[in-house]
Amino acid sequence: MLSYRHAFHAGNHADVLKHVALVQMLDYLIQKPAPLYVIDTHAGAGRYRLDAREAQKLGEFREGIERIWDKQSAPKTVAAYLTAVREMNPAGELKQYPGSPWLAKRALRTSDRLRLFELHSNESRLLAQNFKGAGREVQTTAGDGLALLKSQIPPPSRRALVLIDPSYETKADYANVLAALKDALKRFASGTYALWYPQIAKIESRQLPERLKRLPATGTDWLHVTLRVHAPATDGVGMSGSGMFIINPPWTLADALRDSLPWLTEKLAQDDTAEWKVETSADKTNQ
Ligand SMILES: C[S@@+](CC[C@H](N)C(=O)[O-])C[C@H]1O[C@@H](n2cnc3c(N)ncnc32)[C@H](O)[C@@H]1O
Repeated sequence: MLSYRHAFHAGNHADVLKHVALVQMLDYLIQKPAPLYVIDTHAGAGRYRLDAREAQKLGEFREGIERIWDKQSAPKTVAAYLTAVREMNPAGELKQYPGSPWLAKRALRTSDRLRLFELHSNESRLLAQNFKGAGREVQTTAGDGLALLKSQIPPPSRRALVLIDPSYETKADYANVLAALKDALKRFASGTYALWYPQIAKIESRQLPERLKRLPATGTDWLHVTLRVHAPATDGVGMSGSGMFIINPPWTLADALRDSLPWLTEKLAQDDTAEWKVETSADKTNQ
């Protein structure tokens, strides 16, 4: 039984990192004329109200998007993401936050396709409502996005961005994403795969990046980015930061992140241990 609901966490520091990277990847990938497939295996509800009871309860967005959304000094890549957030809040007050489906829909052309999967019944109902009438470019499916990924790849155009953004409610989620990625790379080695994960006290979370680095065939490019906002709690509870591991990243992504993360880290830091890292298969010791 799934209990995670992203509405309680929307717009937090982890969403900021994930969505800055997502917007940059989409901007790059739609520059080529061939249709792009965006497959969001863990879509959530698609968009969120920050004035709703859920978001207000934990107030996580206050340590995330609220700290930066009105800043004019943001580096180019962050500014592109903030433009999208501001579009959702045209009256100048931060009341709504875009989920990955909304950010993808906003970027895509009519020739591109968006495939959204969500397992939680309440979230998948909201997702379907939020994309009602979006046209045949967008398809929402209530189901297991990891299991159904194999049915989506390779897409006819052989160009796809696959976002894998689990809630990691169970230990099995870590093994499941590794297995799904291994299988996906066999079916469609040239796809771009972006996996988000939390920096938490669990051993599975700490080991995940090294396991991911061993996953792609030799010669496949990868990029690993992390943003830690505070020191891990002494009781081991909570998320001190998050990371994204991207297989076959756009070649522009590493520089875009290196340019953005000093600013983002300064703005989102909750103590003086806040730090960022970007490492790639080509250059593993950056910063
Ligand atoms: C972190 S949230 C997704 C947030 C969304 N990607 C965004 O950036 O706006 C993770 C979602 O995955 C859903 N979920 C968990 N396991 C799933 C699975 N196997 N297939 C599809 N959705 C799943 C959860 O119900 C939750 O809504």
